[in-house]
Amino acid sequence: MSHPAVALRTLAAPRGFHIGTAVAFPHLRHNRRYAATLAREFSMLTAENTMKWAALRPDRQRYDFTDADYLARFAAANHQVLRGHTLLWHQALPAWLSSASLSNRQWENTLRNHIDIVVHHFRGQVQTWDVVNEAIDENKGCALRDSLWLAHLGPDYIARAFRWAHAADPAARLYYNDYGAEGMNRKSDAVYRLVSGLLEHGVPMHGVGLQMHVSPEDHPRLTDVARNMRRLGKAGLAVQVTELDVRLKTPVTPKKLAEQARLYRDILQICLDNKNCTACVTWGFTDAYSWVPGFFKGYDQALLFDAAYRPKPAYQAWTAALTK
Ligand code: XIL
Repeated sequence: MSHPAVALRTLAAPRGFHIGTAVAFPHLRHNRRYAATLAREFSMLTAENTMKWAALRPDRQRYDFTDADYLARFAAANHQVLRGHTLLWHQALPAWLSSASLSNRQWENTLRNHIDIVVHHFRGQVQTWDVVNEAIDENKGCALRDSLWLAHLGPDYIARAFRWAHAADPAARLYYNDYGAEGMNRKSDAVYRLVSGLLEHGVPMHGVGLQMHVSPEDHPRLTDVARNMRRLGKAGLAVQVTELDVRLKTPVTPKKLAEQARLYRDILQICLDNKNCTACVTWGFTDAYSWVPGFFKGYDQALLFDAAYRPKPAYQAWTAALTK
């Protein structure tokens, strides 16, 4: 299958809608095909790992923006908007931080300085930040996840993180991002309560990211995803699908690829039909590089392009949905 004449980003542009993807280093730097596909097809980029603490904070004193700046320059050169991912998460923390012994006040200052410096650094470059990632724990009755941040700053850490991010870049759109809270369930109820509470207290936040790591046999009911988007919209929030991939059980067959294409199409269609949904972002774009086989044993080929950068049926399904 050769590349279609019109790229996804071009088809989405008239709707004011972004088709995005996560970007992995070192491929962006060293693989021209990777970079060319990225530039051609997508209008929104998320750093898969490059803006996480472990990447930006090699040691306590130093910030290393080398790769993240490279990505920001690439995005600017290709007229793409950036999603910053992520200011606060319980994972991808550098060892010096997870093993640090600090007073609660020092923990707070560490987080505050990080948010301040990183958000400042990318002012005018990062349009949207995932300020807080995965703070709700479905294995803890959907209460706040046990993390260093909760332990040392208390439950109010989320509100404070949003306020600090807003102070550092008042123009940035600020998101809460999570998985397993895409449809209507206990976890999305908890997210809804959390973000409504923040809004009631005047916390500056603008949207909720629905990660959407799914498979044909394990995905939220599509009507529920639409309902969830609508209730968040009524609360005044935007939503974005932030980490979409549709993993397939190996061995992958044409039938499974067709099922995958339908699910990709349906999820994009829900986004297009809900006016508060402003972007659909996949978690990588070529099956050559994806976290799926490493994380979901026995699954693979979750993305829009195969390992040789050929568009898959899922890609054709997106072209069709955007052309309708
Ligand atoms: C994943 C990356 O894809 C992997 O390369 C890394 O080893 C671990 O993190 N939810 C998120 C993302 O918010 O940051 C995660 O990304 C996938 C799950």
